[in-house]
Amino acid sequence: MSDAIESVLHEDRTFPPPPAFQAQARLSSLEEYERLYEQSIQDPETFWDGIAKELPWIEPYQRVLDWSQAPRAQWFTGGKLNASAVCLDQHLESRGDQTAILWEGEPGDVVRLTYRELHAQVCRFANVLRERGIKRGDRVAIYMPMIPELAMAVLACARIGAVHSVVFAGFSAQALADRIDDGGCTAVITADGGWRRGKVLPLKPAVDEALVGREGVHTVLVARRTENEIDWIEGRDVWLGEALQAASAECAPEPMDAEDLLFLLYTSGSTGKPKGIMHTTGGYMVGTYLTTRYVFDLRDDDVYWCTADVGWITGHSYIVYGPLANGARVVMYEGAPNAPHPGRFWELCEKHGVTVFYTAPTAIRAFMKWGDEHVERYDLSKLRLLGTVGEPINPEAWIWYHRTIGGERCPIVDTWWQTETGGIMLTPLPGVTTTKPGSCTRPFFGVDAAVLSESGTELEANQGGLLAIRRPWPSMLRGIWGDEQRFRETYWSQWPGIYFPGDGARRDADGYFWIMGRVDDVINVSGHRLSTMEVESALVSHESVVEAAVVGRPDDLTGQAIVAFVTPAAGAQAGDALAAELAGHVATEIGKLARPAEIRFTDALPKTRSGKIMRRLLRDIAAGVEIVGDTSTIEDYSVLAKLRGYDD
Ligand code: WTA
Repeated sequence: MSDAIESVLHEDRTFPPPPAFQAQARLSSLEEYERLYEQSIQDPETFWDGIAKELPWIEPYQRVLDWSQAPRAQWFTGGKLNASAVCLDQHLESRGDQTAILWEGEPGDVVRLTYRELHAQVCRFANVLRERGIKRGDRVAIYMPMIPELAMAVLACARIGAVHSVVFAGFSAQALADRIDDGGCTAVITADGGWRRGKVLPLKPAVDEALVGREGVHTVLVARRTENEIDWIEGRDVWLGEALQAASAECAPEPMDAEDLLFLLYTSGSTGKPKGIMHTTGGYMVGTYLTTRYVFDLRDDDVYWCTADVGWITGHSYIVYGPLANGARVVMYEGAPNAPHPGRFWELCEKHGVTVFYTAPTAIRAFMKWGDEHVERYDLSKLRLLGTVGEPINPEAWIWYHRTIGGERCPIVDTWWQTETGGIMLTPLPGVTTTKPGSCTRPFFGVDAAVLSESGTELEANQGGLLAIRRPWPSMLRGIWGDEQRFRETYWSQWPGIYFPGDGARRDADGYFWIMGRVDDVINVSGHRLSTMEVESALVSHESVVEAAVVGRPDDLTGQAIVAFVTPAAGAQAGDALAAELAGHVATEIGKLARPAEIRFTDALPKTRSGKIMRRLLRDIAAGVEIVGDTSTIEDYSVLAKLRGYDD
């Protein structure tokens, strides 16, 4: 750990915006950025009012911000709008025949939808939902592969005011069931399956399993994609394609209050249960609209591709809502980056003329490992801007991205944000900011970020501390579904009135932010945040396990890899066979991405006297580094000595 921070400290290369890029950028002068930033902080209401006016409101808002019930912010109170109308209806006249979504399936099938066509499909979809009795305020779970119907499902829910809760299709039936229960969902939208590395990933069977005994779900809409055989429950299950064909292509958008819930999206926390992060309509749309416009510098002829899955916040904000609100041409891809070959993404960039490309550091590290020859085969000269998100990018990967993908002519925007923030918070502006590899640079408009000590004093340059956001922003979370207490404790109890994102950071002498990772116990595997507690509870649900502690260790490829320390039950045979069985068990319970990379058996775990497992020590042991932290609270020192023995 300390090594990673060290190498970052020594990073002093800087990259000013390339002049050719800058000459055409939406924002191209540092003075302009500083002027706007200053205004957005000194007089946020005027700033955000100016931006929000650009959206098509059904009824105007009376007030920009009401922070009187902090930490529950209310933005654009009294205003009415509909997120699907912001994404679709407003473009019908100006760009109805322009491509909205250019989708490619893993097998190479292509679907191109204009704004007019997407609008019609979303209206039909919305009517299908209504016919099935789904109404404003109902929660709908979406568990789908990356097919156009996924984007349509999200927008159709928004159109009728139903709250979508997208569950990443890599999650297991159990994880889906937990999220359906927590959100009180009454319908599920899914597909028979999706294509993943040449194989069918069956989804409908997982939905069936998740719904056993869940009578509250009255409807399952099924898109046909892979034609795998599936079971069918008459009355509950509906083929989406047939229903769409029969539905009318006209559906007036439901006028939603700015503060009406738009969606729930579950994210891991440091204690067991996933948190249903709540985002509302007005502020979220204003935030994603503006960040997309300036961070990705979108212009009319851009072909924009964000490689995330819509199952994560990046897909919500920067595949669906932000880009469509801006009238962009959005590329969407179903498959993995290395199927059928490791050059697949670059092949797609060439084929569709991608100009703006947004991906994650874990993907970039995989591309580096697979070799430059898979990149060099393709013409990437149309690319003009690159982005990254999800975890800190190591300078080596940044430089590789810059040279090999960007041909040294594309700025890189390293964007820091979270499910909770709804949109990008710390980021370069590509025509303005001189970038430094590994730094997400400076705050976006309206973001008052700082590095504070635990007690809340602002730290000096280059001192590591806790990242803090000192003012409300439009796309901020409005709560955790069904758990106000946890919302206050998790994000607002570190310092009064200040948002605590849970990341460590330092700010350098130029005011640039360098993120140092999570300070709690969440593991970030390939850009996916997983709760150690969730993996632990999956492990202890196995009969051969008494106790388990899970930590992340640094991994060149996936950012972090999961290491599980497991105390076997009496009579259980600790060894490779049990380790393999447990890893498989976690994959079934949570999903493959949670499968531990390593399982170590131990008779006891290091604990404090109050019984808390000392994950901090386990992290050092897992990483194979010397334990440097304070061990004075440990209950039994012999446990540590034994655990370290496993490293020899
Ligand atoms: C981490 C993803 C460093 C961070 C949008 C944050 C980053 C968590 C960056 C949120 C970045 C995200 N540099 N770290 N550019 N972007 N992170 O909710 O720890 O899946 O708190 O949202 O990812 O992950 P989430």
